[in-house]
Amino acid sequence: MKAMTATSSGKTNTKSQNVNVKAVVTIDQGNGGFVGNLLKPALDGIKKLTGKTLVLELVSDDLDPTTNSEKKTPKSWVENIEIKEDTVWYEAQFELSADFGNVGAVIIENEHHDEVFLKSIALHGFPHEQVHFTCNSWIQPNNDGPVKRVFFSDKSYLPSQTPRGLQRLRDEELVLLRGNGEGERKSSDRIYDYDVYNDLGDPNTSIDLKRPILGGNKQYPYPRRCRTGRKHSDADPLSEIRSSGFYVPRDEAFATIKQTQFKTSTVSLGLNAILESLDTILTDPNIGFVSFEDIDTLYKDGFHLPPLKANGLTLLQRVIPKLLKAANDSQNILRFDAPEAFKRDRFFWFSDVEFARETLAGVHPNSIQLVKEWPLTSKLDPQIFGPQESAITREVIEPQIITCGTVEVAIKEKKLFMLDYLDFFLPYVSKVREIEGTTLYGSRTLFFLTTQGTLKPVAIELTRPPMDGKPQWKQVFTPVSHLSSHSTNLWLWRLAKAHVLAHDSGYHELITHWLRTHCVVEPFVIATHRQLSCMHPIYRLLLPHLRYTMEINSLAREALISANGVIEISFFPKKYSMELSSVAYDKLWQFDLQALPNDLIERGMAVADPCAPHGLKLAIEDYPFANDGLLIWDAIQEWVTEYVTHYYPNPITIETDRELQEWWKEIRKVGHGDKSEEPWWPNLNTSKDLIDIITTIAWVASGHHAAVNFSQYAYGGYFPNRPTIARNKMPTEDPSDEEWEKFLNNPEQTLLECFPSQIQATLVMVILNLLSEHSPDEEYIGKYMEPSWVENPIVKEAFERFNTKLKKIEGWILDNRIQILDAILAILADECDSSEGRGLQRIERD
Ligand SMILES: [Fe+2]
Repeated sequence: MKAMTATSSGKTNTKSQNVNVKAVVTIDQGNGGFVGNLLKPALDGIKKLTGKTLVLELVSDDLDPTTNSEKKTPKSWVENIEIKEDTVWYEAQFELSADFGNVGAVIIENEHHDEVFLKSIALHGFPHEQVHFTCNSWIQPNNDGPVKRVFFSDKSYLPSQTPRGLQRLRDEELVLLRGNGEGERKSSDRIYDYDVYNDLGDPNTSIDLKRPILGGNKQYPYPRRCRTGRKHSDADPLSEIRSSGFYVPRDEAFATIKQTQFKTSTVSLGLNAILESLDTILTDPNIGFVSFEDIDTLYKDGFHLPPLKANGLTLLQRVIPKLLKAANDSQNILRFDAPEAFKRDRFFWFSDVEFARETLAGVHPNSIQLVKEWPLTSKLDPQIFGPQESAITREVIEPQIITCGTVEVAIKEKKLFMLDYLDFFLPYVSKVREIEGTTLYGSRTLFFLTTQGTLKPVAIELTRPPMDGKPQWKQVFTPVSHLSSHSTNLWLWRLAKAHVLAHDSGYHELITHWLRTHCVVEPFVIATHRQLSCMHPIYRLLLPHLRYTMEINSLAREALISANGVIEISFFPKKYSMELSSVAYDKLWQFDLQALPNDLIERGMAVADPCAPHGLKLAIEDYPFANDGLLIWDAIQEWVTEYVTHYYPNPITIETDRELQEWWKEIRKVGHGDKSEEPWWPNLNTSKDLIDIITTIAWVASGHHAAVNFSQYAYGGYFPNRPTIARNKMPTEDPSDEEWEKFLNNPEQTLLECFPSQIQATLVMVILNLLSEHSPDEEYIGKYMEPSWVENPIVKEAFERFNTKLKKIEGWILDNRIQILDAILAILADECDSSEGRGLQRIERD
């Protein structure tokens, strides 16, 4: 490809030794853009446009030595195309002077009237190697004013090492990405900016749909979201008006995947289609299931959907392809896939072994904690919430822990564990109970670690604070043996479990999943784009972990966590759902505790032990979230350590990296500004600081998220196993004679009425099915070698080690966990309350 021209004199003359360079531009037609549009009518359309579509300019690394200013940028139009399936290649020719230096950037303009998705640019013709530019970005047309986009080569540079010819472009690109904080964002924009959560409510539609602003105030601290700049509501000037599309920067959208069910608009419209269908079928939105056979119908026969409006069927097919079955040409059936455990035993969820196992190894394995103190007490103000003492006494516990004898011994030997939702939910009990169709308690559930190393539940305590002129109410429920399986106590135990499971489902979705792995990550995404140049090595390290977060979060704001969205319809806190996640952010969230080892230590599930694997001795030996999670944590940490120490050989390089320092400052002061004064924020002075910060972010977005996301349908797909709401209070709480009589005569009916309504259950199962799916182009950690790493032998080898280590971990999990899973599912099918629950493990991972 290269063409060197000799001088007529035959002597070396650097000025005349020009280099002919060919730029090959790769465009993905993706979901549209001009190539997609062109391909539809005819190929002729493309030919007419060649030569005047994209304009390239090459930028030298060096400054002009005589003027000390940037060199002129040679310009050329693309021509000659080749098309293969979705990909189109263009070429542009350049003749560069021999003293042009290395090409460090390409500037590109799109002179057609539609956007294009630019995958990459490769420059051929240099003596030693081709120069590659990975772009993966939408280029907007010049219609609305000239847009010059700059792409840097795949080589990473710390700010201080930036070639002088690229310095201005590096800085200006960041300024562009930050925007000026003004105006309403268009879907084609690339601006990353911050705002508070002021778009969850919909006061313009109804003042009942007004919701508090989360973030930027002392009452409801919250992470920041991406600024959209929409107009504010007349009904509530603090709230933004909702619109049909929620802006995310153009390259954050699921734009290059065809037919994806994850596209925000598709999901949003698909959910509306489902809601409309259910509304038509169900005359009463509060109607529940009348029997367990009635529930089984969802998985056996399904139910006929009414005729759908225009493109309603297409939307549903996109959103829930696996759940939609064609009955005939005009009718469709919504039929849910039965989760594996349900297929083996339709009453698997009655099992106390399963209840305890899921607490440790189900979809929410990181809420359980060690009981460290006795007696159990509340920290809430007794003047408001009633006596602090727990009703769980040694008389309740000790008959069930005979291998330990006393509670003190059990605590000393680390045998007692707890799901503690008492102090967190109690302040919201009276508010939530004002809403029709839901109820709430503060709850504690105690578990005992048996000699087999598995948990068994020993007590549930439900508490209602003083309210409506009544004093505090609390009661302890205990499991009962097979011998008394038809007793009133057994049904009370089942009802108490339903309440605790609803608490756990709500806490899981709102806090462990949404807040801790989605919401808090968004400020990291925004700051990474605003403060770190795309040629910064830390930008490149973080990018795979931040992918699609903003798009999914915007989908959540649009359809899931919004006023009257799926969460408010189906989860017990109703309109207080998001307030509760703000309370959790305020009182519980700490960045340093998101690191897996710190999280385990904080919950008492591990103690530091230099002699133990991963430096931690686990309180429960067989705890898959910790066992498998620590393998993945260590692999990430090792990779990040090698990467960071390569680019930052000493602390000075960290301290003087202005982009990195601004990045960390902005995360703390702006994105998480409501918690900026917290003492636990790590400093960023050394490579260890940076390694800890990056490992934590990567873990939260990969391992932690995978653990609490991908098995949502496996556990919640049969809703009695994880109800999202308990609609009625316990029959023992101030019952009328009639209520008590009804419970005694038909306890099953009482449980069914406590469960979610048909609409609530169905809607949640649809969403869990969707959320448990992997994106069509899911990027698994350690699988994809970033192009800049390929070019750096040290980083390349480190990444290959990371890849190998993860493959080994994956192999170990697949070999061991699935065998155990099969064995335990068989045990559950044979023997519901077998104590052989050891090792039924989570198999999902990212
Ligand atoms: Fe998720």
